Amino acid sequence: MRILVAGGAGFIGSHFVKRLLRGGGDVVVLDKLTYSGNRANLPDGVEFHHGDIAEAADVARAAERCDAIVNFAAETHVDRSVLSAEEFGRTNFHGTQTLLEHIRESGQRLVQVSTDEVYGDLEAGGSSRETDPLDPSSPYSAAKAAGELLIPAYVRTYGVDACITRGSNTYGPNQYPEKFIPLFVTNLFDGEPVPLYGDGKQVRDWLYVEDHCAGVELVLRRGRTGEIYNIGGGDEHYNIDVAELLFEQTGADRSLLRRVDDRPGHDRRYSVDTSKLRSLGWAPDITFDVGLRTTVEWYRENRAWWEPIKSGEFREYYERQYGERLSTSSPA
Ligand code: NAD
Ligand code: DAU
Repeated sequence: MRILVAGGAGFIGSHFVKRLLRGGGDVVVLDKLTYSGNRANLPDGVEFHHGDIAEAADVARAAERCDAIVNFAAETHVDRSVLSAEEFGRTNFHGTQTLLEHIRESGQRLVQVSTDEVYGDLEAGGSSRETDPLDPSSPYSAAKAAGELLIPAYVRTYGVDACITRGSNTYGPNQYPEKFIPLFVTNLFDGEPVPLYGDGKQVRDWLYVEDHCAGVELVLRRGRTGEIYNIGGGDEHYNIDVAELLFEQTGADRSLLRRVDDRPGHDRRYSVDTSKLRSLGWAPDITFDVGLRTTVEWYRENRAWWEPIKSGEFREYYERQYGERLSTSSPA
């Protein structure tokens, strides 16, 4: 199988590319190289097309001679979608539609990598199943939900071959340091304060990046057309507890923890039921304890990867996102 990985220069996409290559796969990458895309995430020699999933010509060029497309390309950060939502609609909705229009003609298989955030907030107890209604809370998750809703519509109307995965909060090496874990780890290594939103009692279901990729690969190879598969680590933790672990593992001074104003519309809890994917033979391999230590060590040893990222565009974003909140924050 020759596989086009859209968004393959990002965090999860690049791990997926490396996973396919390790298995002897034939891989092509299409990526727009937005702020979070990074060619340094990819091994040398991978066939790379710089382009946009929302541009039909870019998709057609990159997908030539491929059997399947796996779409990781997206605007992915909830906080950025709160600041400015437009690009989220363009890539996450229109980009997905452009891929679907392409496979209508080409007959290729598509795996759309979606998110557990499409379910919205969950009360304590219980986990979301694939048949549950969608109730997204942020411009990011609404645009992801809109994009994935096109899939069953295209399967039913045009008979395209496509599946959806809904992954939970993913962490590991090479994650852009705007997200919770890499932001905290890199700030703590630099002796900078870390901003905990609200009471820190929000719960996320953490999934190590390799386990996420294994789930997506299984759906690519064995998923049934039109079906949706949750992928989750089953490792639920309060944000405050994750922060405490990061202080312990980095050895940073606890006085760097700041409570800041909460994210608008912040979902309290996500949790997914993964029995459907488990019935295909998938199970997570890496516990949160092992995965977090591996991740912290990776950031400790790979300053050369993240230091350049944390200057330039990132600094402007950080100031807009956290400047005022940190100046009015309280120690936690
Ligand atoms: P990321 O931000 O690290 O990577 C996104 C990649 O998409 C980047 O390489 C970027 O350049 C590329 N891209 C953006 N717009 C594009 C466009 N229009 N055309 C082509 N390429 C474009 O994100 P990530 O965390 O690796 O997430 C990958 C996918 O997994 C996303 O679809 C996201 O919604 C989904 N997901 C992420 C998580 C998570 O916790 N990170 C969990 C579940 C699902
Ligand atoms: O659940 C899957 C989703 O996980 C993916 O679809 C998204 O692409 C990915 O970004 C992630 O979304 P979250 O909003 O859950 O991730 P984030 O890392 O931004 O935040 C994790 C939790 O930590 C959340 O409750 C908000 C909190 N947080 C985050 C940041 C960046 C803080 O308390 N402080 C912060 O500075």
